[in-house]
Amino acid sequence: MARPAAPIKVTGAFFILAVILSPAERGEESREILPPQGEVRMTNQGRFAKIHLMDLNDLKTRAFHEIAEAKEVKALEGARVKYLGRERGELTKILRSLKDRPLADRQKVGPLANILRKEIEDGLKAKFKKLEEKQIKRSAQLDVSMPGKKIKLGHLHPLTLIENKIKEIFSGLNFSVVEGPEVESDYYNFDALNIPANHPARDMWDTFWLRQNGIKNSERLLLRTHTSPMQIRYMETHEPPFQIIVPGRVFRYEAIDASHEINFHQVEGLMVGESVSLANFKYIITEFLKRLFDENTQVRFRPSYFPFVEPGLEIDIKLGGDWLEVMGAGMVHPKVFDAVKYNPKFVKGFAFGLGLERMAMIKYKIPDIRMFYENDMRFLKQF
Ligand code: PHE
Repeated sequence: MARPAAPIKVTGAFFILAVILSPAERGEESREILPPQGEVRMTNQGRFAKIHLMDLNDLKTRAFHEIAEAKEVKALEGARVKYLGRERGELTKILRSLKDRPLADRQKVGPLANILRKEIEDGLKAKFKKLEEKQIKRSAQLDVSMPGKKIKLGHLHPLTLIENKIKEIFSGLNFSVVEGPEVESDYYNFDALNIPANHPARDMWDTFWLRQNGIKNSERLLLRTHTSPMQIRYMETHEPPFQIIVPGRVFRYEAIDASHEINFHQVEGLMVGESVSLANFKYIITEFLKRLFDENTQVRFRPSYFPFVEPGLEIDIKLGGDWLEVMGAGMVHPKVFDAVKYNPKFVKGFAFGLGLERMAMIKYKIPDIRMFYENDMRFLKQF
């Protein structure tokens, strides 16, 4: 409904009003406080109309003051609800009360109240627009002197760091890197490595078995206890000569303490050829340990037992006066070659298996294997 927003002057009744009203009520004061859009003048001596016309003046003053003062959309919306709100808006209430009034009152107050409503609505609309523009302008401003946000970069886990380092060293010694499955069959993890069922050596590698029904023993699945099954898988599908390393995750059913975890990592090594010897192994592994730790690292080779090598060895390095075991190794057992249909008369090979955690603990001086898996930022941030 279009109504004129122009000032309202009902001058015809003004003389009478001037007689009965105080100066303020006559609108002298309202001339100062009313906004320039116009003023609401009283046109009637009836009590109802008089009170409401005063209310309208006061209301108009307050409403426009609040609109002018509003610095945020939220404050402006507050003003809208206060005066025009459907339920409790001050002006809404006045308008609503009109319907119970006699026609004469309605005719006097009604049009003025409606015009005022329209004025307040327009005032709100204009201010909403202004605030919005200000907001857009503000967000479009770019302060080039503002300090930037620091983007935190993550980094590699210490186990990944040591794995990468080991891969790098062996690549330099002409080894290839291959990987194998973490879920293995009984055959690859044990049988083919000369560890038959019921052999006491199986006690060295207690592990987690997968629940399966009606499966032959050799096909039963387990979480691999070492990376050695990849010796078999690789030889089944490749012809010598070759040299490989196999980094990967392994599992054991262990009581956890500072040096034992149920899940850890190994790097398997295997070199097979016509005349690969233990002397070759000693050279390669000493070279590797010197490159990983330092040039003066002292290395010791000790006889040991693993069913899939003959002879079997354990390798220690000297650390602060103590010898520390770092890997198992040996010459590939003829029965292992049999299992992959290599002829042990024509090929020889060495194999080794080292613990990745153990290497990292020595290199980075980490006292407890559990720290690798706790994801404590205070620990991880140090690498
Ligand atoms: N697989 C053995 C272990 O987990 C280590 C090893 C690998 C020993 C290769 C000899 C040769 O303990």
